[in-house]
Amino acid sequence: MKYEGLSPRTRLLRWGLFGLALTMILYATAPQATGLAVDWVTSHQDSLPWYATRFLGFLAYGALAVSVAYGLLLSTGILDRIAHRVVSFTLHQDLSAIAIGLTALHGAVLALDTFVPQSVRQLIIPFAGPYRPEWVGIGQITFYLMIVVYASFSVRRRIGQRAWRLLHYTTLLAFVGATAHGLMSGTDSPAAWAFWAYTLASVAVAFLLVYRITLSVANTARPVARPGARATAPVAQEFQP
Ligand code: HEM
Repeated sequence: MKYEGLSPRTRLLRWGLFGLALTMILYATAPQATGLAVDWVTSHQDSLPWYATRFLGFLAYGALAVSVAYGLLLSTGILDRIAHRVVSFTLHQDLSAIAIGLTALHGAVLALDTFVPQSVRQLIIPFAGPYRPEWVGIGQITFYLMIVVYASFSVRRRIGQRAWRLLHYTTLLAFVGATAHGLMSGTDSPAAWAFWAYTLASVAVAFLLVYRITLSVANTARPVARPGARATAPVAQEFQP
């Protein structure tokens, strides 16, 4: 049986349970957490935007990596065994939107940074900023690429499947750009956890890409079925919501 999305009839119950769990967690942790947060914010007031942009940068990178990996899984047809294509496709689209939203916040917060002040113009125009302009510029171009690919979801029927697919594969370029940008401009790059975050994401995407290409090649190399022979399912499938 395939997953078809959650039933709208249980929506109230789900939100109720979620609200209850959240209230219990907040009740148990809020007083101490608030005290600790206030102390931390007071002592790091000046560098708050800098911490926030780094945190948001990693969240954006994670969302982009998951979206790319999910898209590759979707194109291999593996996810079709678990969920309906419409559900998987919508989730893939939502993940891209989340990655774009987080990146926009990651960039916008930099406008509040007082250590390396940056104007809105410098944040918008690639390579125009004062801080590691070449690597930050790659991040800016990556951001625009992510927006173009996301926008292409809505003009898919107009530009045709082939052009759309070609455009869609530039997401891989965006992933490489985001990895290079994070590694080369990030303060946290020397930390072991950051190294593992970049490595794990890159290995997962590379593995799925090789798998996807292998399936495609195997599919193309298949002998054409003789008339009357039993049809077999294609090994790899294209995005088809
Ligand atoms: C508008 C475009 C962008 C701008 C202006 C921008 C700016 C910056 C800057 C200035 C840094 C250095 C922060 C520091 O550690 O001191 C940085 C780091 C980083 N950025 Fe971006 N970025 C952009 C796009 C992106 C995109 C598209 C992603 C990924 C989806 C991304 C993910 C990261 C990550 C992971 C770091 C490393 C943070 C750290 O090491 O603490 N950025 N970015």
